[in-house]
Amino acid sequence: MAGGVVVNNGGGKDYPGKLTMFVLFACIVAATGGLIFGYDIGISGGVTSMNPFLMKFFPSVYRKEQEAEKNQSNQYCKFDSPLLTMFTSSLYLAALVASFFASTVTRVSGRKWSMFGGGVTFLIGAALNGAANNVLMLILGRVLLGVGVGFANQSVPLYLSEMAPARLRGMLNIGFQLMITIGILCANLINYGTAKIKGGWGWRVSLALAAVPAAIIAVGALFLPDTPNSLIDRGHTDAAKRMLRRVRGTDDVEEEYSDLVAASEESKLVSHPWKNILQRRYRPQLTMAVAIPLFQQLTGINVIMFYAPVLFKTLGFADDASLMSAVITGLVNVFATFVSIVTVDRLGRRKLFLQGGTQMLACQIVVGSLIGAKFGFTGVAEIPKAYAAFVVLFICAYVAGFAWSWGPLGWLVPSEIFPLEIRSAGQSINVSVNMLFTFIIAQAFLPMLCRFKFILFFFFGAWVVVMTLFVAFFLPETKNVPIEEMVLVWKSHWYWGRFIRDEDVHVGADVEMRANGKVDPAKVAK
Ligand code: BGC
Repeated sequence: MAGGVVVNNGGGKDYPGKLTMFVLFACIVAATGGLIFGYDIGISGGVTSMNPFLMKFFPSVYRKEQEAEKNQSNQYCKFDSPLLTMFTSSLYLAALVASFFASTVTRVSGRKWSMFGGGVTFLIGAALNGAANNVLMLILGRVLLGVGVGFANQSVPLYLSEMAPARLRGMLNIGFQLMITIGILCANLINYGTAKIKGGWGWRVSLALAAVPAAIIAVGALFLPDTPNSLIDRGHTDAAKRMLRRVRGTDDVEEEYSDLVAASEESKLVSHPWKNILQRRYRPQLTMAVAIPLFQQLTGINVIMFYAPVLFKTLGFADDASLMSAVITGLVNVFATFVSIVTVDRLGRRKLFLQGGTQMLACQIVVGSLIGAKFGFTGVAEIPKAYAAFVVLFICAYVAGFAWSWGPLGWLVPSEIFPLEIRSAGQSINVSVNMLFTFIIAQAFLPMLCRFKFILFFFFGAWVVVMTLFVAFFLPETKNVPIEEMVLVWKSHWYWGRFIRDEDVHVGADVEMRANGKVDPAKVAK
């Protein structure tokens, strides 16, 4: 191993360098790509609970809701409308498809152009939605928003993980999730305000204001430098070295540079990332690219994020109070994210996953029981205020658990585990699985609530048990490990190690290790 390499306690080596203002600023700007995703998640739930919006576009839902109110009929079923759920979830299908196209743009043209494209498309979608006069315009606009989200979610996490120094990668990457949560909160606050607009056009303001976060990321992306990894991969080696010096704030970047070059050489051998990703040696990463986003959605978080106002209305809150409760969960979501920002590179990813999972499970059991005890299976009940407040409290604790575990880590971990040659393709799989299950849950939640009632909370709770065990056994710790050396982590894992042959381990500075086919255990995270 070359001299000057520090082996830190998290495993992996620490390249020389510090957190420069340049890299911090670049990461903050790139992370704003999360705003558009968050804004969208937060806005649709509130808008679809505004009566003028329902009356204009979904009159049958509106009538059903009014009847349910009059007759005190089954609370679990009053919002069940396929067209309404189609509105919410059309975006996720569009994002799913778009992320595959984004993969090529991100790899061939660099990460920043994907971010820019995402921002611009989102901007057009916002304009269409704000001006919508019929359901078609509404859904078309949402499809464009989805394309924007697909591009941003594909490129931003990769950008952040590549720019960040290894030992701060968790913190900087979680900037993306922080922006998602800020986007959700802003959307909730805006809905709270626009719902009060007399004249019934408040929903237009909510939808049109999506243009603001879109403009931020589109303009921001124009000023962003590309990552050294992507520059090398596209043949700009001198620019890459200059950029690496600049982002690390030191001239002593040879070590890291040689790892990046090695990764890029490896990457050049791969002309079909999509076919390659299926090779046996990438099985651990591929499994994670599918399992992590799948599990993230099966926590059931988006039931709260999309339907909080609807859910709180179901609990018997008035319109205003239910929008307010959504603001409260939104605030908890933002603040709890800071817990992971501060701890992720110290405690590591696994501890957060395990703690967060346990907390979510406990809350799901309590919320399911509280709702079940009052509404039972008939769904008809008057809930006392204090009781409802108690339910909201546990929902907040559940949101907090998610906000420092599966929320940020669901984007961080997949973005840091792939070798360069399949990174872009792997991230597209991550985004599309995430979007697919966001879509399925958005579509299925209201009909499921109608059929399974409070049991639904236990259903998601059972999934949390499965995913927590999965992490315990199959997810190795990745904190502090340089991104182009991640293969060492998989190689030394009790289960995944068998999928990777010694000759598959190519790390730039480890020439002598390669020669004798050994992996240096000192550099592998415990
Ligand atoms: C998830 C979203 C979720 C959000 C909540 C994100 O990480 O991907 O589906 O709505 O967190 O903060």
